[in-house]
Amino acid sequence: MTQDELKKAAAEAALVHVRDGMTLGLGTGSTARPFVDLVGGLVADGLNVTCVPTSEVTAAQARGLGIPLSTLDETPHLDVTVDGADELDDRLRLIKGGGGALLREKIVASASDEMVVIADASKHVEMLGAFALPIEVVQFGAQVTVGKVAAILSELKLTPDVRRREGNDGPFITDGGNFIFDCHLERLPNPEELASALEAQTGVVEHGLFLGLAARAYVAGPDGVKELTA
Ligand code: A5P
Repeated sequence: MTQDELKKAAAEAALVHVRDGMTLGLGTGSTARPFVDLVGGLVADGLNVTCVPTSEVTAAQARGLGIPLSTLDETPHLDVTVDGADELDDRLRLIKGGGGALLREKIVASASDEMVVIADASKHVEMLGAFALPIEVVQFGAQVTVGKVAAILSELKLTPDVRRREGNDGPFITDGGNFIFDCHLERLPNPEELASALEAQTGVVEHGLFLGLAARAYVAGPDGVKELTA
């Protein structure tokens, strides 16, 4: 099976959580995309759901499929959010934000009764950190903020290799108008410790560590789709 087929298999498995009358958070990325397509197909067949997208890209896709969309202001409580991940471990701790949508993704997941992760097996790791951890930083004074982030990493004995994400035409800018800096840590033995330190740092809007948020994951590999629970 190709990686795209595995992503689709994981997306299909998560459909078991979609029921008529639900409020749903729609994730972002190449694994969430087929899930949104599948929801679009069900809506075309008469499913009644109200969805909150986690990015402008997902909003445009969902709109194109005729999926009824709402905002968290109008629909503050969601039944389920289904989203991808860049890495997940056995405890369903995640690194997210490879697509730059981490802030909205975390807000939407936090407003949901359940966050369901869909991924191909390459994302399932023993220890987080090989995928560079994205952090979203306010543009004003970004270099000062990032200097402080590097100091935090050094203090925690992590590699202080922090690089601004670039787009096609200059720095990558998030839906919220901020920069993304990717922290190339290689290994992250204690994500909770780093998450708390980053949350205390002014100028850091959000980080891509999703801890205690995902309840369930569908991980698709060559032998089928495995269900993991936190
Ligand atoms: C978007 O910002 C991310 O958090 C994605 O959910 C994550 O990067 C997974 O993306 P893929 O499914 O494209 O690997």
